[in-house]
Amino acid sequence: MNTVNSVLRILSDGRFHSGSALGEALSVSRAAVWKAVQKLQQEWQVRINAVPGRGYQLAVPLTLLDKDTILSAIAPQTRSRLQEIQVLWSVDSTNRYILNQAPNGIGSGLAVLAEHQSAGRGRRGRHWVSPFGRNLYLSLLWDFELDAAQLSGLSLAIAVAITRALSKLEINDVMLKWPNDLLWQERKLCGVLLEMKGEASGPWQVVIGMGMNVNMDSITTEEIGQPWVDLKTILGQNLDRNKLAAVILSELLEAMDQFQDSGLSPFLAEWRTRDICRDQLVELHFPDKVQQGIARGIDLNGALLLESEGVVKPYHAGEVSLRY
Ligand code: BTN
Repeated sequence: MNTVNSVLRILSDGRFHSGSALGEALSVSRAAVWKAVQKLQQEWQVRINAVPGRGYQLAVPLTLLDKDTILSAIAPQTRSRLQEIQVLWSVDSTNRYILNQAPNGIGSGLAVLAEHQSAGRGRRGRHWVSPFGRNLYLSLLWDFELDAAQLSGLSLAIAVAITRALSKLEINDVMLKWPNDLLWQERKLCGVLLEMKGEASGPWQVVIGMGMNVNMDSITTEEIGQPWVDLKTILGQNLDRNKLAAVILSELLEAMDQFQDSGLSPFLAEWRTRDICRDQLVELHFPDKVQQGIARGIDLNGALLLESEGVVKPYHAGEVSLRY
């Protein structure tokens, strides 16, 4: 473990540790400890109090993600669908890590979680703000024996699977914005990014990436660029991220089999009851144009139905924004 990781692991007990005590414990100089603290603050966005005479202390207590804790909270039958879980401290993007760096030969069932992403990827090339230890950044690799058309509803099915997980945690009032944003009181709670490799006729290797705001702490709306909410705000208290990861992974794993067998149909009714855009005036943004219309729900393949000048058409791409 390098100095940055080791300093953070020691500080995660929530107590003060002086620079010299940390240096001694890790057999490095005080300057090396100071450098590690700078990196944690500036690059990983960890808030650390530095008090003269007392040392360093985490400003907000931290429970780190732990692979064994997550695994033990998943039912054995569901767990058997997982091949491997990796918990990384810092990575550019868990999606990219799986796409480019995952051990060869691993297919369905590789799950990668990270405490921090330096280049978290959002939809449409956006950056996903990923401070250390606050949220959930999770990617799951899955192989589907389906063609491209059959796969088109997958991102909606994933969004439903995540709402099922939240319902298990008694969070029921989450809405969906096509195709797969989870919103609470019109603020973004969770985003999903699917990245795929394969031939049009299949099979497909799909990386399912999801980022959920759990306890954003001091992150500002300007950094995120849109109204957002975290689970701490919704629940009024902290939620154990290991438990959350286990519940979400369990629902995702079950959804994978359901989708491979039956496509979007087992998810449609739930998606429709949570559709925030239904019968609302919306704008569908494309790189080169904007289409206005009234959202009329989704079709059986998960396409957005948009009514414009009295005609309803299905759309498979684009970014929806609600107009009030
Ligand atoms: C969105 O823009 O709504 C999608 C955000 C998806 C973010 C997650 S975080 C884990 C995974 N790794 C990434 O780089 N992106 C996804």
